[in-house]
Amino acid sequence: MSRPELVAPPEIYYGDTEASKYTQNTRIQQIQAEMTYRAMELLNIPEGETAFLLDIGCGSGLSGEILDEEGHIWAGVDVSPSMLEIALEREVEGDLFLQDIGQGFGFRPGSFDGAISISVLQWLLNAETSHPTSSPPHRLTRFFTTLHSALKNPSRAILQFYPTSDDQIQLITSIAQKAGFGGGIVVDYPNSKKARKVFLCLFVGGGGGQQVPQGLADEGGDERVQFERRRDRETKRKKSAKSKHTQDKDWVLKKKDLYRKRGKEGVPRDSKYTARTRKPVF
Ligand SMILES: C[S@@+](CC[C@H](N)C(=O)[O-])C[C@H]1O[C@@H](n2cnc3c(N)ncnc32)[C@H](O)[C@@H]1O
Repeated sequence: MSRPELVAPPEIYYGDTEASKYTQNTRIQQIQAEMTYRAMELLNIPEGETAFLLDIGCGSGLSGEILDEEGHIWAGVDVSPSMLEIALEREVEGDLFLQDIGQGFGFRPGSFDGAISISVLQWLLNAETSHPTSSPPHRLTRFFTTLHSALKNPSRAILQFYPTSDDQIQLITSIAQKAGFGGGIVVDYPNSKKARKVFLCLFVGGGGGQQVPQGLADEGGDERVQFERRRDRETKRKKSAKSKHTQDKDWVLKKKDLYRKRGKEGVPRDSKYTARTRKPVF
């Protein structure tokens, strides 16, 4: 089967039918969730901190839901109106922008505490038209330069993608470097045809002091089982982070404020009981 990015431009490929099939497919939901948890691990936001994150190629919001669960606030960009329409129907929390990332971002400098992108970058390796400024290197340069400026210093961007060759990895990393990023490539399960995943880990600032994290090793045995063990660990981590957040007054107030700004109805008033912690009995 042909890779989607070779079939048609993304806004055509992810039309109404494909966008809906993609979002409802439980196998896709599971794989995208696993990669999002791993991207969050590599993003390394200090525990308990609420970050403002950019989800690049957010699609119908599958990753965004995980960013919410982890207690973050996010904005998403995607070029497919059908994908964004589904994200809206699913009432995701993030602010959504219809935009071609190959044109570059127009965000204020230093807007985001970090960025993730799951299964998107390979789309930029295919020319949109025969116009010279639509070539992959031009589009990648605009993308990385404006992403670098949209991120805070220091911060990270973690982009999972599906390269077809080492030349593609080389092209992407060299353009990211020229745009000012440090970092490198992390490959999880490098010897497995099925489980192998490539993450571009980009650092803003840090003077090169940040080490590129290690990829997950093939421990032998059934990769499915390893994935499931990791997912169980992630679920436990997520649950404990969530229960911690719900007790945190600042976090609750911030969320309520955000809902009110978005015009959500029925947001409870702030009171001295908001997210209160229990007083010790003695
Ligand atoms: C495989 S889907 C992944 C969606 C989402 N990240 C997820 O994990 O479910 C790829 C997404 O990248 C988006 N995309 C591809 N090229 C893009 C571009 N040039 N600008 C913005 N979005 C793009 C597509 O519209 C699609 O929603």
